Amino acid sequence: MIVMNVLNCFLFFLMLIGCNGVHGINQSASEDNVRKKPTVMLFGSNGAVGSNVLSALLKETISETSVESFWNEIILVGRRFPFPSPSAEESKLIKTISMTSLQDIDQNEDELSSIQDTTVDACIIALGVGSPQDMTLPYWQSVEIDMIGSITRLCVQKGAKYISQLSSVDAEESPVPITKKELEKYNTPLGWIRMLMLYFRMKGLSEKAVIENASKSNVHVSIMQPSQIVTETTRYEWFDYILFKLLPVIDPLMPRYWHSVHVRLLGMAFAKDAANTMRGDITKGKNGRKTFNDFVQLSGEDFKAIQSDLDGTKWEL
Ligand SMILES: *[C@@H]1O[C@H](CO)[C@@H](O)[C@H](O)[C@H]1NC(C)=O
Ligand SMILES: *[C@@H]1O[C@H](CO)[C@@H](O)[C@H](O)[C@H]1NC(C)=O
Repeated sequence: MIVMNVLNCFLFFLMLIGCNGVHGINQSASEDNVRKKPTVMLFGSNGAVGSNVLSALLKETISETSVESFWNEIILVGRRFPFPSPSAEESKLIKTISMTSLQDIDQNEDELSSIQDTTVDACIIALGVGSPQDMTLPYWQSVEIDMIGSITRLCVQKGAKYISQLSSVDAEESPVPITKKELEKYNTPLGWIRMLMLYFRMKGLSEKAVIENASKSNVHVSIMQPSQIVTETTRYEWFDYILFKLLPVIDPLMPRYWHSVHVRLLGMAFAKDAANTMRGDITKGKNGRKTFNDFVQLSGEDFKAIQSDLDGTKWEL
């Protein structure tokens, strides 16, 4: 078991290298009868996970028999966006808000003026530092804790009733805060070893920044804790190639919560969890934390339907 744990942790860390208009409703006529469609705000849509969350959000419809979008509006906030030229369908739903920086976003009224009067119902935070081993500890903390905390405060200000966050399996549940001394000591790029030693603590602190800043208001917080994320495009080709071949062999030997997660499955789970919560159908999960089994429960059927279109190994679910 120990050997497997070590092996899995090793693979997990290696994996980090590679990761990184309403129509049909007459609003004025029956405002009270027709439930207002919710608005969702997504952070990190340009990343591997975020872009898959976005495609899944775009596909969510109000019912199985309808093609009408579940969402009134999908607001993307960030510095870069996945769609250089959105399709007509997409531009009807998507609004992009381009920011020079996401730091202290809850105080940046100027760049957010276009959503000044918009109520946001759900918020999805699919952000994080892509290669923390190349960063200093102060920078890593400024993103994972300060920025994510400030995004949470913005979501609460905008009226969000639901916030979900991309975290990691095994994030510490009672992490010790980063000390001033550590910040001074690790003010050069961390490198792999130090990054690995701090990783689960940092992710735990990042979760805490969301949970604490959302705690004063009545917000449902979902924390997604994937293990290895399997992406479609491979940045480090030979390495990912071998890893993605190994995972189907290793996965069945692991506890389910360590099962690798295809990025499309994770994107669907995020979108389903947000939509389900808006419908009042809250998926449990331990302390609001969701792992592989929950992802499968949330999006298993939809994922099975597209699984055969994916390259490479088929994932047993
Ligand atoms: C929609 O509401 C307007 C009143 O604001 C009414 O004139 C119109 O007939 C309604 N359309 C439908 C399809 O109910
Ligand atoms: C809120 O987020 C900030 C980071 O932006 C963090 O330092 C703080 O501990 C969080 N919690 C509370 C209760 O403010």
